Amino acid sequence: MEFPSFDHLNVWRACANVRVWILFLLLLLLKSDIACSGSDYLVGLGSYDITGPAADVNMMGYANTGQIASGIHFRLRARAFIVAEPNGNWVVFVNLDACMASQIVKIKVIERLKARYGDLYTEENVAISGIHTHAGPGGYLQYVVYIVTSLGFVHQSFDVIVNGIEKCIIQAHENLRPGSIFINKGELLDGGVNRSPSAYLNNPATERRKYKYNVDTEMTLLKFVDDEWGPVGSFNWFPTHGTSMSRTNSLISGDNKGAAARFMEDWFEQKDYGKTDSVVFEDDVLLRRISNIIPSRHDNHHELLELATSFQSPPGRPVSKTSSVAKRVRSAHRKVDKPRFVSAFCQSNCGDVSPNVLGAFCIDTGLPCDFNHSTCGGKNELCYSRGPGYPDEFESTRIIGERQFRKAVDLFNAADEEIEGGVDFRHAYIDFSQLEVTISDQGYSEVVKTCPAAMGFAFAAGTTDGPGAFDFQQGDDKGNPFWKLVRDMLKTPSKEQTDCQRPKPILLDTGEMKKPYDWAPSILPIQILRIGQLIILSVPGGTILSPSL
Ligand SMILES: *[C@@H]1O[C@H](CO)[C@@H](O)[C@H](O)[C@H]1NC(C)=O
Repeated sequence: MEFPSFDHLNVWRACANVRVWILFLLLLLLKSDIACSGSDYLVGLGSYDITGPAADVNMMGYANTGQIASGIHFRLRARAFIVAEPNGNWVVFVNLDACMASQIVKIKVIERLKARYGDLYTEENVAISGIHTHAGPGGYLQYVVYIVTSLGFVHQSFDVIVNGIEKCIIQAHENLRPGSIFINKGELLDGGVNRSPSAYLNNPATERRKYKYNVDTEMTLLKFVDDEWGPVGSFNWFPTHGTSMSRTNSLISGDNKGAAARFMEDWFEQKDYGKTDSVVFEDDVLLRRISNIIPSRHDNHHELLELATSFQSPPGRPVSKTSSVAKRVRSAHRKVDKPRFVSAFCQSNCGDVSPNVLGAFCIDTGLPCDFNHSTCGGKNELCYSRGPGYPDEFESTRIIGERQFRKAVDLFNAADEEIEGGVDFRHAYIDFSQLEVTISDQGYSEVVKTCPAAMGFAFAAGTTDGPGAFDFQQGDDKGNPFWKLVRDMLKTPSKEQTDCQRPKPILLDTGEMKKPYDWAPSILPIQILRIGQLIILSVPGGTILSPSL
């Protein structure tokens, strides 16, 4: 397959040159892994704002009807990379500062890309995934369950996300240039804790023994290096929930991952790049608009003049070769072409990983919550987890963001394993309501089947990151007659479904509720991208990387 729009780059022309070919063949004979032009890929990165409506819209994540946006903590972005193999395949990965991607968003994005680029970008080779912030505007998903609290579909939320993804892919496309990709992995131990440690203990001991911790602590980072410009960005994956900001927060925020991305982009722009130990925050030197050395009275003209003259102007320096105006203009001119550094902090298998690392405590007594049910004196709504900046959620967001940022910088600076090999992709729709699964353990083997989706009573208890209301409890395997009555007014689960879901008592039979349209998805889009030895498996809610690296 040809890569139609990059012919003008003439990047691979070198390969057509006979002498280079001979040299190339010689190198092959020598079993060298040096490719014909020094880099194996075309790489492009892009980034665009997706902040959305900052007032009067319910926020996605906590399913809390009272959590309505009323301002901005910091803005949200979509960040994308494109990797293309010359005369081969190409793939796109988009990371959204949103709770998750959505199928309807992707359909719209692909429609727009088709109008612009023909068949270059399709649902097959574009993966879109979210960082799981719980502080972004909601209403952009197509299933009823996800838009109940936003009182329906919110066009403003939807449009800004579709638009931002399209724009960041266009930017990445226009930045496509020869480059290399490096990969590095490392452990980050203080970025998340298991928020359901009692549930984790229900896993068989033989399985638990395979892992050192009860959460995944690995961060994997890709570093993108332009042949001409040097490093142009990085994407990393690490699991921790976007719940540093609480269920009562009303400011739009990228939470800890959005913060980490900004810290890293700022760090790079501030030219600290290359100095491993120079990760410093300059909180203390923030410029104040009103200097506190100037007294507030207005009748002190004379004193102010004296104060002003007491400051000495710097003596100035003779113009050198590097500081001349001509040189500065030239370098500024050159910088216009330089792509902006893009750094994305992507979500992976964050299931029960909480950024509120101090643990869960009762807001009335200050004591730890009940271990098995996350309750306080039987009440679920009093049990809250604490972030490292407790009680300041902005501080917790900053700290967990900073921890991921620092780890990413370490991995970035030390990344030296190069990604090599072909680019490929697979896309499939898998019906999760009727999958057959073989369970085998020590000689025992049984084939079981999945069922349509259903939310259990424990779901309504929420988690310690955002407890639910009423008398629901985590770990509830019985249910309660009152809520079953309420449930039956919506939909009484069939006997088959009840048996299939057992021992989970069904609160909402979402997988079988179809009015006015589907309440929950049964069919999930699965996207697999391969770049050399790296395999990226992505669903709208998150991404995992090949464990075989
Ligand atoms: C939690 O539940 C397990 C299993 O039912 C039980 O053995 C354990 O004692 C309980 N722990 C606490 C602290 O209640």
